[in-house]
Amino acid sequence: MTGICIIGAGSSGVTVAKALRDKGLTFDIFEKGSDIGGMWRYENDNGQSSCYASLHIDTSRPNLGYSDFPIDPSLPDFLSHAQFLRHLEAYADANGIRERVTFRTRVDEVTPDGARWRVTLSTGEVRSYAHVIIANGHLSDPRMPGFPGQFDGEVIHSHHYRTAAPYEGKRVLVVGLGNSAVDIAVDIARRAEHVTVSTRRSAWIMPKYLMGVPIDQWTGFMVRRLRLPVTWSRRIMSRLIRLGVGDQRRFGVPRPEHPMWREHATLSQELLPYIGHGYIDVKPDVAELRGNKVAFADGTEAAYDAIIYATGYRISFPFLATSLFDPSTEAGRLYRRMVPPAHPGLIFAGLVQPIGPTIPLVEIQGKWIASLLSGAFSLPDRKEMEREIAEHLDHKRRTYLASDRYALEVDFRLYSSQMRSDARL
Ligand SMILES: Cc1cc2nc3c(=O)[nH]c(=O)nc-3n(C[C@H](O)[C@H](O)[C@H](O)COP(=O)(O)OP(=O)(O)OC[C@H]3O[C@@H](n4cnc5c(N)ncnc54)[C@H](O)[C@@H]3O)c2cc1C
Ligand SMILES: NC(=O)c1ccc[n+]([C@@H]2O[C@H](COP(=O)([O-])OP(=O)(O)OC[C@H]3O[C@@H](n4cnc5c(N)ncnc54)[C@H](OP(=O)(O)O)[C@@H]3O)[C@@H](O)[C@H]2O)c1
Repeated sequence: MTGICIIGAGSSGVTVAKALRDKGLTFDIFEKGSDIGGMWRYENDNGQSSCYASLHIDTSRPNLGYSDFPIDPSLPDFLSHAQFLRHLEAYADANGIRERVTFRTRVDEVTPDGARWRVTLSTGEVRSYAHVIIANGHLSDPRMPGFPGQFDGEVIHSHHYRTAAPYEGKRVLVVGLGNSAVDIAVDIARRAEHVTVSTRRSAWIMPKYLMGVPIDQWTGFMVRRLRLPVTWSRRIMSRLIRLGVGDQRRFGVPRPEHPMWREHATLSQELLPYIGHGYIDVKPDVAELRGNKVAFADGTEAAYDAIIYATGYRISFPFLATSLFDPSTEAGRLYRRMVPPAHPGLIFAGLVQPIGPTIPLVEIQGKWIASLLSGAFSLPDRKEMEREIAEHLDHKRRTYLASDRYALEVDFRLYSSQMRSDARL
């Protein structure tokens, strides 16, 4: 019997498992689906993947690979979901991870048992662990808005969107202006009769390429080569983007009240040109649903056949009682974004939303966790953990917008340097 349990074999679970293996630690890893890959496995039989057929990763290839397992340079700048899955599978197999996963086995309950944790599996088996690493993903439980009124057409959340085919010749409203919304609006635009995107706060639309170079490589150059602080580099980027893309108000996309560097980037090379071609228009927030029509905050009204809510995700842990850990208040209050001070035997992996790529950041989390569990360093006492959390929340308040959407936001460079310093990586 091992002392460590990992829940989930998506990119986070696989990455942490590899780091534990590198330190010679043994662990059990349970995956409710029949294979690894989580959200990157299109139509995953775990029923949890938010992947759509046209999805391409928005981090460019050189910034996406693992430190000891780079992505094949013959692949394109922005990998498709299938290409990324193949890369993850190759990484897992090169490190002997897939054979360690117990598939088709869901963790149904995690409860405290003295200083240990009792883990109940869907097979009915109960096991005891000193540490439970939770890597169940946080982008699969749809967050639905509560607009007044009723809509009579078809309604889905972006989590269930797969292809444009069902929207052929239809009038479609996409609610939200995050990355799911812009990807889906653009995907549907050429086949639908018309697409409207509705946004309450608007967003700065960043291109995927600037002067032929992937946008994240510009930021990487400023932060890593020129060693500029992240906020400076983001301010410079916002100027460059305005020069390269122009004033988005010309396309009917309002300029947000907040500066570009305060938000999670919305990336799309096609959105503004598609608005320019008349495929897509932009409306403010939905005021009311009126049968087959939708009224907007500017007093206009239009008829639609379908609404796609691309309104983000709720963080949920169905196997943890909310009396033990309430995600709505506690998911953003973790020591080093991983450890709840009240329950240091639980460790959350991948529960972050970085400005920058998630997957390489979780590689560093994995090394931090492996160093911690192999005794290379210890957690501070509860008071110090609370102090670190307060400092993080203060930095987050000063940096990002006050919205549920930013509960897990972290700055890649600052956060990775904190983990590296703790674990002497
Ligand atoms: C549409 C979309 C696009 C994205 N694009 C990017 C991008 O371009 N770049 C980027 O860095 N990030 C992107 N992300 C974020 C992405 O989710 C993370 O990068 C990362 O891959 C998530 O991996 P994960 O392992 O944490 O979660 P998941 O991939 O969701 O995997 C979680 C795994 O846990 C399993 N599981 C859940 N509950 C249980 C249970 N009770 N018992 C057993 N197993 C369980 C699931 O079956 C699943 O396999 C995107 C997210 C979305 C939704
Ligand atoms: N190609 C890619 O790589 C890709 C594609 C899709 C998603 N992703 C990633 O996956 C994660 C989730 O993205 P997401 O776009 O699904 O969700 P998201 O980033 O949380 O965006 C949700 C959008 O919906 C809006 N919204 C939320 N609640 C609303 C309400 N009640 N009324 C009106 N608008 C509302 C938000 O507006 P406010 O800003 O006003 O809150 C925001 O515009 C992100 O990290 C994203 O980068 C990546």
